[in-house]
Amino acid sequence: MSFAFGFTSDDISDDEVDIDQRQPTKTENEASAILAAVELITPSFVDLSDILSSLRNIRITFDEYVTPGGITVYRRQVYDIKHQIMVEEDDVSSNAIHDILMGTSDELDLKKNVYEGGFKLWECSYDLVDAVLRYSESGEFNSLKCYLELGCGTSLPTCYLLSKLLSSSAESSIKKVIISDFNLEVLRLVSIPNIIISWAMTLSPEELSTVEDKNIPLNNDELILTPALLSKFQEQLEIKNIELLLVHGSWGAKFCDLLIPQQPDFILTSETIYSLESLPIVLEILLLLLENKPAYLALVAAKEYYFGVGGSIVEFMQKLLYKKPSSMAVDTIGNNLGQLKRDIVRMAPAK
Ligand SMILES: C[S@@+](CC[C@H](N)C(=O)[O-])C[C@H]1O[C@@H](n2cnc3c(N)ncnc32)[C@H](O)[C@@H]1O
Repeated sequence: MSFAFGFTSDDISDDEVDIDQRQPTKTENEASAILAAVELITPSFVDLSDILSSLRNIRITFDEYVTPGGITVYRRQVYDIKHQIMVEEDDVSSNAIHDILMGTSDELDLKKNVYEGGFKLWECSYDLVDAVLRYSESGEFNSLKCYLELGCGTSLPTCYLLSKLLSSSAESSIKKVIISDFNLEVLRLVSIPNIIISWAMTLSPEELSTVEDKNIPLNNDELILTPALLSKFQEQLEIKNIELLLVHGSWGAKFCDLLIPQQPDFILTSETIYSLESLPIVLEILLLLLENKPAYLALVAAKEYYFGVGGSIVEFMQKLLYKKPSSMAVDTIGNNLGQLKRDIVRMAPAK
C-alpha cells in the first residue's frame, strides 16, 4: 500500500502496512540513530546576553513575506548578514561559515557536516507559522509549557509565536522558548535578529522611536539594534516571565541530554527530515523528548520528497507509525501545499 496524505494513524491497521520494513528489535532500538549520530559540533547552550552584545548597534535590513495563510513575517536579508561578517572579518573562529556566506548559493543551501542550511529561508517554515496561528486560535497548546524549535535556521515559526506571546496581554502557559541550530553563527546572525525584528514590528511607532536613535534616519525595512532596543527586548521577556534559551550543535545523545531536563512539550521543526541521515535522528529525538508526557504537540513540516537526498514526509510517517507508542496519535494536517508538495505531520496524545 502506498501512503496517502491526510490520513490518521487510526485509519491504518498494522496489517495494512506492507512496506518492507519490520518492527525493529530491542537491540536495534538501543543502537538508535541518536546514539549512532556522529557529533560534529558538541551541543551546548549559548548565552542570549552574549549574542545580544555581539549584535549591539548593528543596523539590520529585512524583507517582509506573507504566508499562505496571510500572516506577515520578517527575515533579515542575506546581503545584510554578509555585510556584518565582512565588518567582523578578523574573527577567525567563524571562517568556515564566513566562506559559505560569501560563496555560491548552492553552498548557502547546504554544506554537509559544516553548515546545514540555516541561513536560507525554507518554505515549509511558512506553513508552521500558519499552523501556530491555527493552534493558538483553537487553544491546542494552551496548557503547554516549554516550546522548542528544532533546526530553527531563520526561525520564522518561533518569531511569530514569541512575538505573539510578548505582545499579548493574556498570560501564556509557555514559559520557556528554546531554539536550536547546528551552527552558532546561524543563531547569532539570523535566528535572533529575526526574533527581534518580529517582536519590534509589534511595537507602536511611538514605542519604537523611544528605543531607536533619533539622529539616524531609518527606512521602514531597517532597524538598529540599539542597546535600548535590546534591553527592552530582554525586559519584555522578563515581564512575561519567558526564558529564551539557545542551543547550538549536532543532534545526538548529548543534544538529548541537554534538552530532556528542559521538558519540551511543544516542538516544531521545519525542513529537517531532508536526508537519510537527518530523518531517523529527528524522529528519535522527537520520540525521546515526548516520551511519557501527558500533554504535548509536535509538528514536523517538510516536503513530500527531497529529490536526490532521500528524506520525505512519506518515509517519516512510515517510520513514525512503527516506532511511536500506542498512546501517541499521528496524522498529517498540511493538505499537500504548493507545487513541490509540502505537508505537516502532527504528533499528539491519542484521545
Ligand atoms: C534545511 S534547514 C531548515 C531551516 C529552517 N527550519 C527552515 O525551515 O527554514 C535544516 C536545519 O536543521 C539543522 N540541522 C540539520 N542537521 C543537523 C544536525 N545534524 N544537528 C543539528 N542541527 C541540524 C540545520 O542547522 C538547519 O537549521
